[in-house]
Amino acid sequence: MSKTVNQILQKKAEGKKISMLTCYDYSMAKVLSKTDLDIILVGDSLANVKLGMENTLPVTVENMIYHTQAVKRANPPSLLVCDMPFMSYEVGVKEALRNAGRIIKESGAQAVKVEGGSEIIEQVKALVKANIPVMGHLGLTPQAVNRFGGFKVQAKDKSAKEKIIEDAKMLQDAGAFSVVLEAIPELAAKEISQALSIVTIGIGAGKFCDGQVLVIDDMLGMFDDFKPKFVKRYANLSTIIEKAVNDYIDEVGAGKFPSEENTYK
Ligand code: KIV
Repeated sequence: MSKTVNQILQKKAEGKKISMLTCYDYSMAKVLSKTDLDIILVGDSLANVKLGMENTLPVTVENMIYHTQAVKRANPPSLLVCDMPFMSYEVGVKEALRNAGRIIKESGAQAVKVEGGSEIIEQVKALVKANIPVMGHLGLTPQAVNRFGGFKVQAKDKSAKEKIIEDAKMLQDAGAFSVVLEAIPELAAKEISQALSIVTIGIGAGKFCDGQVLVIDDMLGMFDDFKPKFVKRYANLSTIIEKAVNDYIDEVGAGKFPSEENTYK
């Protein structure tokens, strides 16, 4: 049985921190299923870390459904959230409903995540009204990379900070259960977290958020095209894999693999 949105909200009410990681495939989801992770996000960061794209803009609804289905097949006990890709919800309420409906029906996700505040508030209200739980995403919203002109810390001045606080409150009033705060100063994130009853999940937003999220390939040392300041590496799997592959190549070359124990008689 997967965790529910209500259980996540309850954790905030009890002052307990919420853990969230991205995941994009079955084998990793099986590993995560052995842990007490609260939320799995099938993030559109799959564009960068799994598909080798420069940014998240090319990802499609089909890509998101395909990867979320793979994660779902592992039956993870975490709440399963799927990102809505760029231009799958911005155009209007009808299109947002149609695409979010497909994601929930076809992928098995329990909630969707959307980037933005006041500009997409009607879409958020409509999704919630259609019984689709919504997680917002403010601050450095990667789908706005072309407007930002790169991946930069947001809300550095007073008016930008006020805009994020206002957007976060609008998302809460529209019925979102949670909001990701990405790359914003710690004190702004603290102010937002204290002002909201819904859950704030930080990534590069300091320790005062109700929970934290990292891209799993970043925290496991599987992706080093770029490493933002907020990433902590908990393992260096790419080095371990490289060594294993070199050992395999050497053993194949030396005729040591396959040995008796790997051979049918
Ligand atoms: O796509 C993603 O992985 C995300 C997280 C970084 C929050 O949106």
